[in-house]
Amino acid sequence: MSAFEFAPPQFTENDVQELLSAKYGIKGDLRALESERDQNFAVSSDKGKFVFKIANLGEDVDFLELQNNSLTFLQDSGFEGCPAVVPTTTGENMFVAQKGEQEYHIRMLTFLEGDLYSQKPVSLERLANLGRFMGKFSKSMSGFFDTAAHRPDFIWNLDNALAAEEYFPSIANPAHRERAEHLFAHYRAETAPKLQHLRMAVIHQDANDNNLVIDPADESKVTGLIDFGDMCYGRQINELAVTMAYALMDQDDLFAASKALVSNYCAEFPLFAAELDVLFDLIRMRLTVSVAMSSHQIKAHPENEYLLVSQKPALELLDRLDDVDPRFMTALFRHAAGLDAVDHASHIINFLEQNQPNTASLFKPDFKYEARFIIPADGSDTTIPPFSDQAFNAWFDEKCAKEEARFGIGRYGEDRTVYQTDAFASKLSKERRTIHMGVDVFVHADEPLHAPMAGEVYAVHDNAFELDYGPTLILKHETDKGVPFYSLYGHLSRSIFDLHHVGDKIEKGQLIGHIGDWDVNGGWYPHLHFQIMTSMLSQSTNFNGVAHKSMWDVWQQICPNPNLLMNQAPQTFEIDEQTPDKLMRRRANLLGPSLSVSYKKKLKMVSGKGVHLYDHTGRAFVDGVNNITHIGHCHPHLVEAISRQAGILNTNTRYLSELVLDYAERITSKMPDHLSVAYFVNSGTEANELALRIARQATGQKDTIVLDWAYHGNSQGTVDVSPYKFKRKGGFPQPDFTHIAEFPDPFRGPYRYGDNDAGAKYAEDVKRRIEEIKAKTGNGAAAFIAESISGVGGQVAYPEGYFKAVYEAVRAEGGVCIADEVQCGFGRVGEHFWAYELQDVVPDIVVMGKPIGNGHPLAAVVTTKELADKFNTGMEYFNSFGGNPVSMAVGMAVMDVIENEGLQAHAKELGNYILGRWRQIKDKYDLVGDVRGHGLFLGMELVEDEQLTPATEKAGAIVNAMRERSILLSTDGPLDNVLKFKPPMVFSRENADFMCDQLDEVISTFS
Ligand SMILES: Cc1ncc(COP(=O)(O)O)c(C=O)c1O
Repeated sequence: MSAFEFAPPQFTENDVQELLSAKYGIKGDLRALESERDQNFAVSSDKGKFVFKIANLGEDVDFLELQNNSLTFLQDSGFEGCPAVVPTTTGENMFVAQKGEQEYHIRMLTFLEGDLYSQKPVSLERLANLGRFMGKFSKSMSGFFDTAAHRPDFIWNLDNALAAEEYFPSIANPAHRERAEHLFAHYRAETAPKLQHLRMAVIHQDANDNNLVIDPADESKVTGLIDFGDMCYGRQINELAVTMAYALMDQDDLFAASKALVSNYCAEFPLFAAELDVLFDLIRMRLTVSVAMSSHQIKAHPENEYLLVSQKPALELLDRLDDVDPRFMTALFRHAAGLDAVDHASHIINFLEQNQPNTASLFKPDFKYEARFIIPADGSDTTIPPFSDQAFNAWFDEKCAKEEARFGIGRYGEDRTVYQTDAFASKLSKERRTIHMGVDVFVHADEPLHAPMAGEVYAVHDNAFELDYGPTLILKHETDKGVPFYSLYGHLSRSIFDLHHVGDKIEKGQLIGHIGDWDVNGGWYPHLHFQIMTSMLSQSTNFNGVAHKSMWDVWQQICPNPNLLMNQAPQTFEIDEQTPDKLMRRRANLLGPSLSVSYKKKLKMVSGKGVHLYDHTGRAFVDGVNNITHIGHCHPHLVEAISRQAGILNTNTRYLSELVLDYAERITSKMPDHLSVAYFVNSGTEANELALRIARQATGQKDTIVLDWAYHGNSQGTVDVSPYKFKRKGGFPQPDFTHIAEFPDPFRGPYRYGDNDAGAKYAEDVKRRIEEIKAKTGNGAAAFIAESISGVGGQVAYPEGYFKAVYEAVRAEGGVCIADEVQCGFGRVGEHFWAYELQDVVPDIVVMGKPIGNGHPLAAVVTTKELADKFNTGMEYFNSFGGNPVSMAVGMAVMDVIENEGLQAHAKELGNYILGRWRQIKDKYDLVGDVRGHGLFLGMELVEDEQLTPATEKAGAIVNAMRERSILLSTDGPLDNVLKFKPPMVFSRENADFMCDQLDEVISTFS
């Protein structure tokens, strides 16, 4: 028997007063409360306020007990937002009273003070508090069970929603009926099967605005929940679904309201992803059931206008909810609950982050080497026409010419002003969609496009609406765990329809389409809209490219940064106001002017990684010239070492530390045993200064033999022995203690390749210098100092036997042999760790710098015990920073990487490969006179003719042209006509091919 079959009880106020007094010992004022089926009174008494509840005759006693039991359970679990059961004076929670023929079940509950939720306008804060309140309620109900809650046929049991289908014929409006049918069909097919696995609980199921109590002093606070008459055992998630079905009605912003409700509910009572996955469907089911039931009542009582009015908010809400991708709402719920917005979003994003370096470039040649500029579409630059306006053509061409670039970038996450059509409005909130979820790459039409990673064609479709994508390609990819994700290419040309069919396999780097022109691409300046999707949501051949700002955090998990596949430096997407021009102007005022800045078009480098340097526009440059960053820019092992030690201790070497000793051992272990004593300093200059002091102190002489065109440092003492400096612009007369020996250049000097005695012949000139010194001082030279393979001299490797003969002659007259390994040491020359080994000699002093610290100011002098003792005159050698713990940690880290990554062997192998390719270039062009060097220390000398007229200007122009192609080289040599190649040792075969290909092309334009 159902409660609907009996009229509400008809007790008089007198009856009630009598019962109150008899059963509870209470006398109070009564106020009748509205009820569809029961008879309820509010009781005000000196013992408090109560609700006196006379149940409908049809009400099941067990069910009344269930309600009492649940309220007691809630009280016991400390929940404060529900009435308490008031026992009779004899301790009963319920009693039976006779009225006429019938016996009625009566209970009394405490009265919850406050206003009804429906009485005051709802704020977002209230919604948040409602979520939290209901979350607490669900938490407090956990563990409650009562067999009377098992009500599978109860029409308001949301698990029994399909039962409402019989009332569909009562839905008067055909569109509403159709929607109801559609939603039910969807529920039957998709949602109901998923419910089977969801947890069950006894739930209230009716937190509507007349059953919720708010605090009159603070309307945002929800303080109570009443009317447990719809209670039943059902899916736990139904509780939130019913709450939201009511709470979302009449809300301006359904996104914000949903977020507030779900996030706060779940903060108290976490839900599972599987529950949140059905929540949106269940909300719509509950609304549809309401509409069906009320339509049924309206049909029965057409005169009752109230019924029609009360149905309106549900219909309106359903209508608005039709205007959103349902799976997006699920994503929003999941995100609000602190879960991945879509399944595996974090896994996919992690995978892409790890996989980033392995992606292929969208454009060829590699896009990372292309000049680029940002095209703001956020209204910040009003001089730029919208790119849906033909006026953009001229603007873009002019900009490209100015920036010497082909590509413009439209940013991911940009809050744009361009989206003005109705397509960007939504019924869910007043907010328009403005946030761009892809990256745009503007380039002339027909530019070929390539797949960043392998996949298969998921959709190929013409979204031929104004300001839509036009021809669109969607590829499906998989993570290493087989989880699918998607990439979208919008605004293409129609070539995709010939190139692809759904399901086609796509290789990484494969041509996948071409950029479309205005007339096909949706009506935009030609550009690619590139986007990643971790889920297609409910979409298939198109996908939202613009998001609501308030929902951006959710969308970011669905459409993560496309740069995960584009792999461009972050500066690509950030406008840098401090441009190279500006910095040049500042620099002119702030820094000493006696330093040139590389390249005609100046570069502002902002980051480095491995072999690459990145400028302020995010463009990558292959570093072919920085021999200092030996193990690569910002090597993580070094970064870790330097920061770790900097956080522990940095001080001078007057305190004991094993770091400096360990490092001294490590460096000297790379040399013959007698080169056993180390000094640590801060620069190559300082190291050469010290080497010269040791030699001069030990020999009592000052006269020093140097090679013509040598450079040994920037201090007075080292410039004095650097003809490269004192013989050139701004120089000074050769110091009388400096003796210049002929530069042993086997290409341009008097003794050339093919002359087997060239080494000995050049050494003769050193002997002549010794004689000169002897004639002047009566003694030999203090020192002979030379780079072991000449850098500033133009990457010149000396003829065989040269050092051997020179060292012998110098030592024979008591002199010290100093090898300057500042540029060429640490395995760079490939065959050997030290370049002096190429000459099969052992110096008395070895000077190290540049690569030793990979950019950190560290340099060293290693010598023999004998020379070190002679230098120990009593005058202290103190160096504030030399040998400090941070520098030692750096030195150790550099050595680790050289050894662990096999960089010396790599230099040998790759150097030989490059030399081979350079020889082919030499064979093609007369301009290339010589290619030479060892390992990754190579030079290419350019000449105009067989007389070796130096092609100095062309060398400079080639270096600048290579810079335009994103490869950094420099020139050097006495005639400044030698291209210098001495890259970070992590230079790869791919880098080598890129460099050689470009060099070949560039040289061809000068030949
Ligand atoms: C061969 C050689 N020695 C010494 C130095 C001076 O080193 P630093 O610049 O570290 O003082 C340089 C610098 O270019 C060099 O190339």
